[in-house]
Amino acid sequence: MALQDQHPSILFGLGILASYALLRIVQYVITYQRRSIIIRNNGCKPPPKYPHKDPFFGFDLFRENARRLREGKFLDGIIPRYNAVNGGVTTFTSLFLGTTIINTIEPENVKTILATKFKDFHLPQTRKDAFRPVFGHGIFTTDGKDWEDSRALLRPNFVRSQVGDLDTFDEHISKLIARIPSNGATVDLQELFFMLTMDSSTDFLLGESTDILSDGNHAAGERFSQAFTYAQQKMSLQFRVGKLATLLPDKRYTEAVEFVHKYIEKYVRTALEKAKQYQGSEKEKVQEDGKASRYIFLNELAKTGYSAKKIQDEILNILLAGRDTTANLLSQIFYILARRPDVFKKLRDEVMQLDGKRPSFEQMKNMKYLKGCLNETLRLRPVLPSNGRIAVVDTVLPLGGGPDGKSPVFVKAGQNVNFHTWAMHRRKDYYGEDAEEFKPERWETYRPGWEYIPFNGGPRICIGQQFALTEASYTTIRLLQAFKNIEARDSSDWTEHLTITLGIGNGCHVSLTPA
Ligand code: HEM
Ligand SMILES: *[C@@H]1O[C@H](CO)[C@@H](O)[C@H](O)[C@H]1NC(C)=O
Repeated sequence: MALQDQHPSILFGLGILASYALLRIVQYVITYQRRSIIIRNNGCKPPPKYPHKDPFFGFDLFRENARRLREGKFLDGIIPRYNAVNGGVTTFTSLFLGTTIINTIEPENVKTILATKFKDFHLPQTRKDAFRPVFGHGIFTTDGKDWEDSRALLRPNFVRSQVGDLDTFDEHISKLIARIPSNGATVDLQELFFMLTMDSSTDFLLGESTDILSDGNHAAGERFSQAFTYAQQKMSLQFRVGKLATLLPDKRYTEAVEFVHKYIEKYVRTALEKAKQYQGSEKEKVQEDGKASRYIFLNELAKTGYSAKKIQDEILNILLAGRDTTANLLSQIFYILARRPDVFKKLRDEVMQLDGKRPSFEQMKNMKYLKGCLNETLRLRPVLPSNGRIAVVDTVLPLGGGPDGKSPVFVKAGQNVNFHTWAMHRRKDYYGEDAEEFKPERWETYRPGWEYIPFNGGPRICIGQQFALTEASYTTIRLLQAFKNIEARDSSDWTEHLTITLGIGNGCHVSLTPA
């Protein structure tokens, strides 16, 4: 049958199909040419490729990652991978289920992604997909204008006077200290630090603490804490392994998310009602007893006129940002202190200069060795050990192309770029041959650039940095004032516990001797 004998609608359909194909071809040619020009003008060369066993889909690396995640050895695998390419590189491409992604530990590239060409890169869709059911549209899950709004809304709440509610924080630390056996029995500090940061974050954010460290009745707080933890575990699995990992319905997850939302909703409603009541008056600043009322994050958000849902989302985002991060940092510090009597002694000597008194901001700022310990812990045990972005336009990274890695690299729109803080923080060409060693003294002279990014950098730098460092410093000081010795009660090697943040797989089991 010849073409002219066909029914007209079939011809019409074929015509459309042909025009569509032609359009796609033209689009492709235009894109190809535009990209060739960028590549030529910038002298871009492709980075070396990872030597995959499966050169089509990269299933070898996918399987290895899944196994390493299961065994708690994901981070151990990163540096060998950079070393396996061309005898050692700082940028390479690899395949993730068939698509090419860029991996880098090049400070200039990190600076470009996070600062110089900030607008060319967004958060990966996988992160947004995994986070949104719990955290909605908040600072951690948005880009562009939405993110700018969140940042502007939250930022003013992180100025120093608000970060400085050490009186409230001290109450929670006292409860933590009371929980530590005075007879030298073993205690898992990691578990206690998670309770501490949950109690103090909820206090600061909501004006009422979950209070799980106390002896009193805290069933609701405890349930909230557990639900929050479970929801996060699930999210991090989806985030790292992909949607497949969470396809099956999970009633516990659904219930956890529901409970978390309900718990916060109640506070938001009350705060909004109160804000309405006091609108325009200064009354709320003074309590019945005439004392200035303490700073509560939620009450400030409630005055902004944003919707209840928006405020709930942001509160949950800050809770995510503030709980596990600081708890993990503290766990890592004490894990190290229990194994390094030399560091413990030097640090305690510095703390003893306070004569047992609570430190002021000024004093904490001047504790050089303590700061060196925090910096060094964040270097070797970065709370966010790897991170990534997706290019939203065709763009260029300054380094990593060609066999020597010295040429710029073309990144096409839609391509993922991962940067591995964990591995970058261990680069011997920056930190020296002893890069793997915990040496707080190096910070007496070391002034880091973009090779040190525990809080990232650029417009999206952690807003809670000062808050976190204050909390961690203060907690460390109070504990070293209360205890004169620490001993490890676990002889196994350090293992990772990688959820959204980096924890210790085997916890922080120690025994402490009261001072
Ligand atoms: C040791 C503790 C902490 C570390 C190492 C840390 C690290 C980081 C890092 C690396 C990011 C960038 C994430 C990204 O863009 O992909 C970040 C973002 C953020 N952090 Fe922290 N953080 C810590 C504690 C805190 C605390 C205590 C708070 C709040 C109470 C906080 C609030 C935030 C917020 C709101 C963001 C999002 C900023 C934005 O996207 O604009 N962080 N943090
Ligand atoms: C710690 O690291 C920061 C960079 O994040 C640096 O500015 C600071 O000087 C370091 N301080 C000390 C005492 O280690």
